[in-house]
Amino acid sequence: MQRPSIVILAAGKGKRMYSSMPKVLHPIAGEPMLAHVIRAARALDPARLVVVYGHGGEQVRARIQDADIQWVEQSEQLGTGHALKMALPALPQDGTTLVLYGDVPLTRPETLKALLKAAGAGMAVLTDIVENPAGYGRIVRDAAGHAIAIVEEKDCNDEQRQIREINTGILALPNAQLAGWLGALKNGNAQGEYYLTDVLAMAHHAGVRVGSAVVPHSYEAAGVNNKVQLAELERIYQHNRALALMQAGVTVLDPARLDVRGELLCGRDVTLDINGVFEGRVELGDNVTVGANCVLKNVKVAAGTQIAPFSVLEDAIVGEACKIGPYARLRPGAELAAHVHIGNFVEVKKSVIGEGSKVNHLTYVGDASVGSKVNVGAGCVTVNYNGVDKFRTVIEDNVFVGSGTLMVAPVTLEAGSTVGAGSVVTKNAPAGELTLARARQVTIPGWKRPQKKS
Ligand code: UD1
Ligand code: CA
Repeated sequence: MQRPSIVILAAGKGKRMYSSMPKVLHPIAGEPMLAHVIRAARALDPARLVVVYGHGGEQVRARIQDADIQWVEQSEQLGTGHALKMALPALPQDGTTLVLYGDVPLTRPETLKALLKAAGAGMAVLTDIVENPAGYGRIVRDAAGHAIAIVEEKDCNDEQRQIREINTGILALPNAQLAGWLGALKNGNAQGEYYLTDVLAMAHHAGVRVGSAVVPHSYEAAGVNNKVQLAELERIYQHNRALALMQAGVTVLDPARLDVRGELLCGRDVTLDINGVFEGRVELGDNVTVGANCVLKNVKVAAGTQIAPFSVLEDAIVGEACKIGPYARLRPGAELAAHVHIGNFVEVKKSVIGEGSKVNHLTYVGDASVGSKVNVGAGCVTVNYNGVDKFRTVIEDNVFVGSGTLMVAPVTLEAGSTVGAGSVVTKNAPAGELTLARARQVTIPGWKRPQKKS
């Protein structure tokens, strides 16, 4: 098959979104709808990729920076036929042009390939057969079953209004005829618009072959005009992601409560409990379990690690057989070796933690390098910031940090050292020794608490 040209119509304003953001930038799975359409288009290896923009064009172009897209402005929205006409100078003289829509985000490349096949050297229309065709253009066929016209609902006669086969809007068109057809469009219809759909009757009259394909799933042709439809397509998208994961062997405890907004790569025997949110690129090794209500963004988790509920991990690397959470937070630059335990209300930022080390309760580890077999007690803080600059804390192998210790960076706790609970460590703790850095406990004999005067 010859490489098609693809034009994405994206000039509509999206009034019913009630938003200052152009409609096609509203996200499905964290990505603009237009980006989904562009991805489907790319899967067909197009010779040209043209986007017709209008409202909020600068915002759209700033968000979608793909260098190979040809941007065409339609400053006034005079109809779908007018929109495609704006793209004509960007199209070659021969071959086929596929027309897609920036607010129809879930069309699969396989469906578009079937449409191109149905077009051959002529044209083809992607249709759907629906219970309630209200609002859509109807596909009019002759006695032999050939599509001969598309009639917009507002222009339908009573008989045509009964037709349940509708135009999805997605068309494959022969470039050789396109300029002539678009030039001949008239706007003498109920909406006063230049209808792209009128080219079907022109093709029929010119004896150009008109094929058609029916969408396998209605959602592939579903457009978004408001936030309700946006949420509906989001759920369909997420359900499909969950199905694909389960079909690949992942245990998803409830496919209705999983959100994948990016790439999620799973090894064997991975289990995902409810309400997980996975963003960016997330890699989970064999036997990883992710508890309920976790958020993972751009993280790599090695085999056998368990992430307990309500943990939030971002830009982090987690080694094998670690135990994380519940309520743990790994911030950017957290790197854990194997068998590390990070417990509840522990925050780790820009720190490397060595094999078998444990930081189990209520602790902040930031800008630190922690060796292996280290135990950090409850409620410890690496005091890394003086309000201007950040400093590093080094905790070497086999260190034991007593509970409630403040490590005022820059500072090093040398290998095998022990720091007594409640210490404020401002100087290095020597290897193998016990260091205490706290006021000595005193008891004042006979001291009386002040009494309230009655
Ligand atoms: C269109 C079809 C209709 C089909 C329906 C499917 C026409 C005349 N009608 O109707 O047969 O059943 O889609 O949803 O094509 N756009 C522009 N510039 C314009 C006008 C529209 O870029 O000047 C874009 C819009 O942003 C939108 C798409 O084209 O993404 C469809 O336009 P819209 O006016 O909503 O078409 P419908 O009336 O829904
Ligand atoms: Ca319209």
